[in-house]
Amino acid sequence: MKATTRGGLDAIEHASRDELQALQLQRLQSSLRHAYDKVPHTRAAFDAAGVHPSDCRQLADLAKFPFTTKADLRANYPFGMFAVPRQQLVRLHASSGTTGKPTVVGYTQGDIDTWAHLVARSIHASGGRAGDIVHVAYGYGLFTGGLGAHYGAEKLGCTVVPMGGGQTEKQLQLIEDFRPDLIMVTPSYMQVLIEEMRRRGQDPRRMSIRTGIFGAEPWTEAMRREIEQAADIDAVDIYGLSEVMGPGVANECIESKDGPVIWEDHFYPEIVDPETGAVLPDGEEGELVFTTLTKEALPVVRYRTRDLTRLLPPTARSMRRMGKIVGRSDDMLIIRGVNLFPTQIEEIVLQHGRLSGQYQLVVTRPALLDEVEVRCELAAEFRNDDRDALAHELQQRIKALTGVSTAVDVGLPESIERTLVGKARRVVDQRPR
Ligand code: DLL
Repeated sequence: MKATTRGGLDAIEHASRDELQALQLQRLQSSLRHAYDKVPHTRAAFDAAGVHPSDCRQLADLAKFPFTTKADLRANYPFGMFAVPRQQLVRLHASSGTTGKPTVVGYTQGDIDTWAHLVARSIHASGGRAGDIVHVAYGYGLFTGGLGAHYGAEKLGCTVVPMGGGQTEKQLQLIEDFRPDLIMVTPSYMQVLIEEMRRRGQDPRRMSIRTGIFGAEPWTEAMRREIEQAADIDAVDIYGLSEVMGPGVANECIESKDGPVIWEDHFYPEIVDPETGAVLPDGEEGELVFTTLTKEALPVVRYRTRDLTRLLPPTARSMRRMGKIVGRSDDMLIIRGVNLFPTQIEEIVLQHGRLSGQYQLVVTRPALLDEVEVRCELAAEFRNDDRDALAHELQQRIKALTGVSTAVDVGLPESIERTLVGKARRVVDQRPR
């Protein structure tokens, strides 16, 4: 891997757990009070649950407080969840969602400063340094990816190339001409860039880029290996969500690459049982829940992310890490009683040397039960392989490793539609509504 330097952390990143927890408790108490005093929805929810901010005397007391869900944000569309007068907002973002009204989030100047600081910290953890050129290929606009990455990279003192999503030709031209050190992009679009370079007869390993900061969609360790080898870069995981802030809620450290470190001085994480809501101990898999500790405009209390993962002990920093996201509870398919996540299929497809790493799961309901077809394709150099034999082999592997019987279709190279802007669409749901 290409060389990176170290140093220059925030003091809290290597504070003791006691120091961190003292700061968390003090911030949690004031954030709960802020939300209760300023957001009518939160006050009503606390009152209905019979809790008051003064009931939070230790971190574990948070479990007594009610959850916030995406439905709560929708019900208070557009500005009902804000804890400051609208005039104090300097920015709005929105996430589209597949149905209904978008979810609107807002930021004070203070929130924008905190966000930029945390993305700068994230880029630094990824090995980025002042003076580096950062090519931002996350979408700009209402999506938080582009502007979130942009402000953070500027704050760190980098030279930002605000490319945005899509326009693959132009992306590659600018990468060749400007010679960026880092790229911030979805992992699926990084695959597209690598593929396009190869198609042109260029070697992706000769790109100037030394590190990719990938997120906004689930991706597996198999995908990390694939991209790192294909482009001779370090691939680092950045996590975040609009309702909590945007990119930079958690970020992996390049020296350990062992799961994103949650910036716990600003976001308090819990893992809960997705069915019962009970808090689970660290290490157990469940739904990730966040309480913001410093947000001014949109403090959220116990926000249900629907992302499934585990909390892991601190390693490279004093803060806890999260495991790679297994999937969203919304993306979980239940096929004849067995749970299946797209990431499980990704691992299997990428482990198979002759497939391109592009895949989709098509879900149908021909009769009473759901069925899945896994679509994948040959890598360009194996275009003459026997596709039926490969499909049969893959079907057996999937059955053996996941317990799910799926149909498998292995197509010709480039037969699967690529996502050029936004998040990769791994599940195509053709079930009748
Ligand atoms: O995707 C923010 C973001 C932008 C994060 C750029 C990282 C990089 P939303 O559009 O609100 O915000 O979507 C948030 O995306 O709940 C996860 O399901 C998924 N997600 C985000 N980062 C990761 C990641 C942005 N590193 C939703 N791994 C989250 C897996 C991720 N899933």
